[in-house]
Amino acid sequence: MTLVETQRFVPPGLDHPAEPLKALRFLRTLVRNPLETWPEALFHERLQWLGFAGRPLLFVMDPAMVEEVLVSKAEVFPKAPIVQRAIGAAVGNKSIFTAEGADWRWQRRASSPPFRHGTILGFVPAMAQAAEAAAERLRGVPAGETVDISEAMMATTFDVIVETMLSGRGSFDTERFGAQISHYFETVGWIAAITVLRLPTWMPYPGKRRARAGNRFLKAEMTRVIAERRASPGTTPDLLDFLIAAADPETGRAMTDLELADNLLTFVVAGHETTALALTWALWLTANAPEVEGRVLEEIAAVAGEATIDASHVDRLAYTKQVIQEAMRLFPPAPLIPRIAAEDVTVGGETVAARTPVYVPVYAIHRHRLIWDDPESFDPDRFSPERSKGRHRGAYLPFGAGPRICIGASFAQVEAVVIFATLMRALRFMPVPGHRPKPNTRLTLRPDGGMPMRVARR
Ligand code: HEM
Repeated sequence: MTLVETQRFVPPGLDHPAEPLKALRFLRTLVRNPLETWPEALFHERLQWLGFAGRPLLFVMDPAMVEEVLVSKAEVFPKAPIVQRAIGAAVGNKSIFTAEGADWRWQRRASSPPFRHGTILGFVPAMAQAAEAAAERLRGVPAGETVDISEAMMATTFDVIVETMLSGRGSFDTERFGAQISHYFETVGWIAAITVLRLPTWMPYPGKRRARAGNRFLKAEMTRVIAERRASPGTTPDLLDFLIAAADPETGRAMTDLELADNLLTFVVAGHETTALALTWALWLTANAPEVEGRVLEEIAAVAGEATIDASHVDRLAYTKQVIQEAMRLFPPAPLIPRIAAEDVTVGGETVAARTPVYVPVYAIHRHRLIWDDPESFDPDRFSPERSKGRHRGAYLPFGAGPRICIGASFAQVEAVVIFATLMRALRFMPVPGHRPKPNTRLTLRPDGGMPMRVARR
């Protein structure tokens, strides 16, 4: 091992079981943290069959097989029922995230204008402004006190989504909004357990009533914003205007207000929560890696000096982007992509029967021993152009792949670079000694109990 290698930060990992967990232990762990049910084999095998209650489930880790499932045979692999159960319950089964086939295609097309490259670059001033406001709030934290960085990042990316996708029109109680999303996400382990056991959706479970109430609140907020928009349309169309104007090419019909609310909620939640988590993990990893921090600061100084980060800086903040990419490798905000075989099919020569769930465990693929050197260590140079050359597209999937790839991938990457660079230049982020953040899958990969850190002015 070289000297440089020994100095790399290795974040504490989870203990994965050597053998698949059985029965009650599996269910108890699934409810607590689905990630901890993943056996060790997921981190070194090409594929892994698991089964529960006599029903097989296939995990695919081999990048070529992943590519078959998500890209070349995508039409045979729709989203798995767990997606409908966990996300459909909140945003309906016909919104852009949950719909399939023609139902999905027109919604995707209708939503795409705000995500074009030029439009995204036009959003950079709003992103920089939200980042500077966040830096100002964090400057107010008394010296020596800890602050939950994941909460601070959620508030920041929420501001960005409202400013950009809703043209700043929609006054939300950000704190209440975030709390209701958390209540909903906290029940995801139970939803997974109920799905595995094939129990009916009406089954009661802890937190269900609170989650449902939270969901009603979120939908009502979206309905209010839609009504306000209908009453006074804007001059420059934003995402909501595009959704309102969209028509199904087959039937010519527009979205009902309920469908609009489902889609808007999808965009507001998917569009801020994941980016906030990428930033949270990136700030914490960098705080533990002084050499990385030094290089980021040098790059920002060379590219932007003291100027507000603008669109012309974004592409030149190349190392800063690599830090975000590496943070999303170790802690992918969306750690699992669940699919189901719609018919009998082969994947990598493996026969998969119709109705078999086929899962792409992004978190395990990103730490897979056959894919990455020293997979547990934080090393942003993995994403340098030289070392990225020849990497299989199924090996790195923070945004998924194929037709259902994240519509907001470019938006999120630009936003993360702008916010990260602005914050790093303004403040020093420090880990709380002895605190070991534990990743927990609640749909997204959140640090259990938040991410307490210390901050100081630079
Ligand atoms: C770091 C940030 C983000 C990550 C890691 C992320 C991750 C993902 C992943 C993995 C998928 C694919 C799911 C699947 O195939 O089952 C997805 C889909 C989606 N994402 Fe993102 N996302 C991020 C940011 C955003 C943003 C900023 C927006 C919108 C403003 C957004 C909106 C969506 C939507 C609407 C879909 C569904 C697309 C479709 O099915 O056509 N995401 N995201």
